[in-house]
Amino acid sequence: MIDFRSDTVTKPTEEMRKAAYSAEVGDDVYGEDPSVKRLEEAAAEILGKEDALFVTSGTQGNQIAILVHCRPGNEVLLEEESHIFYYESGAASALAGVQTRTIRGVRGAMSAHAVEAAIRPEDQHYPETGLILMENTHNRAGGAVIPVSTMSEIYSIGKKYGVPVHIDGARLFNAATALGLPVSELTRQCDTVQICLSKGLGAPVGSLLAGSSEFIKKARKWRKRVGGGLRQAGIIAAPGIIALTQMPERLYLDHEHARQLAEGIGSISKLSVANQIDTNIVVVDVSKTGLSADEFSVRLKDQGILANGFGNGLVRFVTHYDVTKEDIDKGLKGISAILR
Ligand SMILES: Cc1ncc(COP(=O)(O)O)c(C=O)c1O
Repeated sequence: MIDFRSDTVTKPTEEMRKAAYSAEVGDDVYGEDPSVKRLEEAAAEILGKEDALFVTSGTQGNQIAILVHCRPGNEVLLEEESHIFYYESGAASALAGVQTRTIRGVRGAMSAHAVEAAIRPEDQHYPETGLILMENTHNRAGGAVIPVSTMSEIYSIGKKYGVPVHIDGARLFNAATALGLPVSELTRQCDTVQICLSKGLGAPVGSLLAGSSEFIKKARKWRKRVGGGLRQAGIIAAPGIIALTQMPERLYLDHEHARQLAEGIGSISKLSVANQIDTNIVVVDVSKTGLSADEFSVRLKDQGILANGFGNGLVRFVTHYDVTKEDIDKGLKGISAILR
């Protein structure tokens, strides 16, 4: 099977498995796990923040950020197709007691003007704006990169009104790769950031939340409250160190593969590529084939290809390190075969 469903499906590399096996460990809730400490220190440095915290998932990292930044009754501003709004099971309202106010973006990017217009003035009728959220790259916008200039303008608005800015950077290294910038150039445009080790970077588990020391101190307490305080977590942190320090440099290959896949799909009649390929996601419009996205996915499976329906006649293909150039060629043959 060639698995294009997500970049979360990668299996740990041999080196990651060995690192897990031989990891030095301790009780991380006691602050005694050297591997977790090494991972958090490396993350703080790479992300250009004072401190970082190892969390179990991207969702947990994003939600802890909301819990720390906001109080119940606050309003958070976020893009209308963002993961936190769309795919985190309503956690922001269920856990932090905040309400979400969505803003329509262009290719996932909210305009600074729209964000500023949505910030609540002081009035007893209004909720207080507690947080501005950005997602980079933007999953539902097909892995679109949010430009640094947009991030910077939004961060300036946040500072102007005293509203913190958090980045859901599940795929922030993909954005940095596409822009040809160190990731710290992007994290300069926010107070706090969450990055996933288990997406394009290929680790089996985990995310990091980074920000000021004061923020991380509070985040650590929230992590405990939501059941994320782990014991000998070095077993999963050790592969995470490899993911964080070695895997970003190969992400350009996934982007190349995505472009090759998109080019090939673009030349197959009745199929069209629905997104601009900035990174590792290709969204394909299958509506002219007479098949629904789910039917198309079933036919793909018969050809040994896995890809997820994305709603509205769209199927999403994601490249990652378990997809090779040969897989792209084979995948294109399989896709063509469906329409023959
Ligand atoms: C943009 C984005 N943010 C957050 C997450 C959540 O990550 P996790 O699945 O580790 O909770 C995902 C997962 O795919 C994502 O795509």
